[in-house]
This record gives sequence, structure tokens and C-alpha cells, in this order.
Amino acid sequence: MKVLGISGSMRKDGNTAQLVRYILAKVQATGIETEFVSFTGRTIKPCTGCEQCKETKWCVVEGDDWADLARKMLEAEVVVLGSPTYYYDVNGQMKNFIDRTYSLFHDRKLAGRSAVAVTVCADRGCERSLETIEGFLNTHHFSYLGHVCGKAYAPGEIMTDVRAVKKADGVAQKIVNLLQPRD
Ligand SMILES: Cc1cc2nc3c(=O)[nH]c(=O)nc-3n(C[C@H](O)[C@H](O)[C@H](O)COP(=O)(O)O)c2cc1C
Repeated sequence: MKVLGISGSMRKDGNTAQLVRYILAKVQATGIETEFVSFTGRTIKPCTGCEQCKETKWCVVEGDDWADLARKMLEAEVVVLGSPTYYYDVNGQMKNFIDRTYSLFHDRKLAGRSAVAVTVCADRGCERSLETIEGFLNTHHFSYLGHVCGKAYAPGEIMTDVRAVKKADGVAQKIVNLLQPRD
């Protein structure tokens, strides 16, 4: 699969999900394969700091959905990673997901992929959420295609954030340019 969109929100059809899906739809319209996954209905346990992954090169925490999502990310060429803003940062589920990718860091398993960061807040705090996602992407040597920070509170409001939608159009085009370069 070429482009994987991930919404870290537990709201099935919340603002993060809608913004990530909007980017994917633009990309898919050009014939590029995309897949959307959401943390909604999924469990992602926290990193325990056991450091066993230094040996195993895979997270040893079991009984949740992290491995399935990590495999999808490893199969993707481009990742659109989105999170809602909770207390001026990514939500807890997204932080759990990121922390567990420590297991992929030892062999730089994610290096070489490209990524877009997406964050949504009602009023303030998007910047730090973005910094957290960018920290994850930089650490894993993703090639960074850009970001979208949207403002919205109730589910669906995001599509009325004209600035965010315009930014989303721009990053979608960057993904298309990367995967379907013109002559
Ligand atoms: C626990 C919690 C904490 C939040 N913290 C912030 C915050 O720090 N800043 C802010 O602007 N909005 C905050 N919000 C609002 C959400 O970021 C906002 O509703 C966003 O659109 C949710 O995205 P989603 O629909 O993708 O879940 C918070 C919401 C919740 C439930």
C-alpha cells in the first residue's frame, strides 16, 4: 500500500479523521492507492520501558492493536499521521503509539518513508501536538512533506476551516508529486 492515513482520535468521524481522509481522497483521486486506519475501537497499550526491543527489534507488549498498525506503517511509502490536541499535545493513544515505535528505531526500520503531520485543536495547543509528531518523524528519519494544523471543536467543524482545507490540498498535491512525478 502506498499512502497510509492514521487518525489518532477515538472519535470515529471526528475532525482528525475527516482531515486525514480528505487528504487521502485527494490523493486517491489521482489513482494512487491509499488506506485509512483509525485508533477508534482499537487499544494501544503504553510502552513499559522494558528495553527488550533492543534485542527483539519488535515491541514485546502484546494483547492490543499496536503491531497491526505498525505493520501497516512499515508497508507504506507515505504516512499521513493525525492527532487531536489534548492539553496542548497529542492525545494519550497517539503518544502510546509513538512511544512503542522505539522498537522500530534500533534498526531504523521506518527510515526512508515520507510523512505528513496533521493536528487539530479547538483553540490552542496545535503547535505542541505538531512538535510531538515532528519529533517522532525526525527521530525515525522520515522525509517530511509538510503539515496541516486545523481548528475545530465539534466533529465535522474542521471542514469549515478554510485555511486548513487549503493546506490539506497542498500536502495532498505534494504526496501526488512524490508518487507520480511529472516528466
Ligand atoms: C481531553 C481533551 C482535551 C482537549 N484539550 C484541548 C487543548 O488543549 N486545546 C484545544 O484547543 N482543544 C482541546 N480539546 C479539543 C479537541 O482538540 C477538539 O475537539 C478536536 O477537534 C478533537 O479532534 P477529534 O474530533 O479528531 O477528536 C480537548 C478535547 C478533549 C476531549
